[in-house]
Amino acid sequence: MSYRYATERTDHSALASGQVLRSAPGFPGFPVRLASELLQRAMVHLGHERARLWDPCCGSGYLVTVLGLLHRDLLVHVRASDVDPDAVAIAARNLELLTAEGLAERERELRRSALDFGRVAYVERAEAARDLAAGLAVTGGDLPHESAVADVFALAEPVDADLVVTDVPYGEMTRWEGDIPQDPVHGLLSSMGRVLPERSVVVLTARTRRVQLPEGVRALERVKVGNRSAVLVRARDLTGI
Ligand SMILES: C[S@@+](CC[C@H](N)C(=O)[O-])C[C@H]1O[C@@H](n2cnc3c(N)ncnc32)[C@H](O)[C@@H]1O
Repeated sequence: MSYRYATERTDHSALASGQVLRSAPGFPGFPVRLASELLQRAMVHLGHERARLWDPCCGSGYLVTVLGLLHRDLLVHVRASDVDPDAVAIAARNLELLTAEGLAERERELRRSALDFGRVAYVERAEAARDLAAGLAVTGGDLPHESAVADVFALAEPVDADLVVTDVPYGEMTRWEGDIPQDPVHGLLSSMGRVLPERSVVVLTARTRRVQLPEGVRALERVKVGNRSAVLVRARDLTGI
């Protein structure tokens, strides 16, 4: 199976945080091209045509919403969870943008702001929402999604996801919360091994030089871009760690 790494020359301005997608102070975004590349690399390892995507540390839901809009054709479901209820509330609103109605409502809201504040920037953002809706319509239509408040370290029930893409806290804008183990990355990966189907692929990214894996866990692949690094691992290799 081959996927086009077609994101390099594409204009992603409509996906910038705070344009159509909602942002809030204290909720970091994520580089769109890197997100897209990581998803496509993970799809190759997964070997499925389509996947159910999950971000268990979703923050504002920016990462999974962008992936849903960019790669509707590769995804059948998107799940977003976070320990912070305020984050999940924003994520739920961003995930609504994975539907025609959600994007139409966002377009109407931005057009109202254009009238209220008399600023052309709102018209451009409204048009970006309209263009995203047109893109979604031709790549598969509404993308089913769900959001939940959950501590990634305390997950007990199986989760039906094939791909996890998650950007973990790095202390500047976001911190680990909840039932934090001594090594949070190890704890997160251990949870993934407990709740995911064995064949699933986990992409963990952080603002660090290199994501440290627990001893004995093999990386399927590593990616380094700027101040971020990512590692891809198979859920099967995370069972019992
Ligand atoms: C770097 S941010 C994620 C940003 C997100 N990818 C986005 O696109 O908005 C890390 C997130 O991890 C969350 N987090 C911290 N501890 C957690 C835990 N125990 N379980 C789940 N999420 C947690 C924080 O609340 C924060 O939203």
